[in-house]
Amino acid sequence: MAFTVAIDGPAAAGKGTIAREIAARFGFAYLDTGLLYRATGRRVLDGMAPLAAAQALRPEDLDAPGLRTAEVAEAASHVASDSEVRRALVEFQRRFARRDEGAVLDGRDIGTVICPAAEVKLFVTASPEVRAHRRHRELDDGTSYEAVLEDVRRRDERDMGRVDAPLRPADDAHHIDTTDLTIDQAVARSAAVVEAALPH
Ligand code: DC
Repeated sequence: MAFTVAIDGPAAAGKGTIAREIAARFGFAYLDTGLLYRATGRRVLDGMAPLAAAQALRPEDLDAPGLRTAEVAEAASHVASDSEVRRALVEFQRRFARRDEGAVLDGRDIGTVICPAAEVKLFVTASPEVRAHRRHRELDDGTSYEAVLEDVRRRDERDMGRVDAPLRPADDAHHIDTTDLTIDQAVARSAAVVEAALPH
């Protein structure tokens, strides 16, 4: 039985952690769709054209090392505003979403564009300052908090302002604001929404 959980929201709001926990708890497959844009951006940095890079993606490319760097994030954010790139990545995501064992996908447009009929849609947010603090702690590479906050704001603007598939909540999404929540609390709230939507 296919069962899709779509999780959207801005960078560092806690989507990935929630998605992984939900997948583990309910036995669903998990796809971090940001990796599709990161792997495409990585190839563009190596000199490939954006559309060709997206069309050439294979599942194993998502496990490549080095996709988490700031340079690749920046390249990903650029290819993500290319409509041809987005279109080339739709089918891969939809096929993943309809797996028999159930699937969790996190990204920016999963509930609005990729899987508008998903059984569960979550929109995970947190204030830009809290997200920048979390990212800053994770990075631990000497980058200043101010620089990380600036980067978070710039990426939010690009994600929300693009013409094609901008970041926004689906009308029927459940909002989870993690600003004042612990990870456990955010996961518990999300899991309760999934639990309630499962066929009994
Ligand atoms: O979530 P992330 O930081 O790994 O995403 C990398 C970039 O890809 C980010 O700029 C947003 C973009 N993205 C997107 O446009 N649509 C998605 N479904 C996932 C990510």
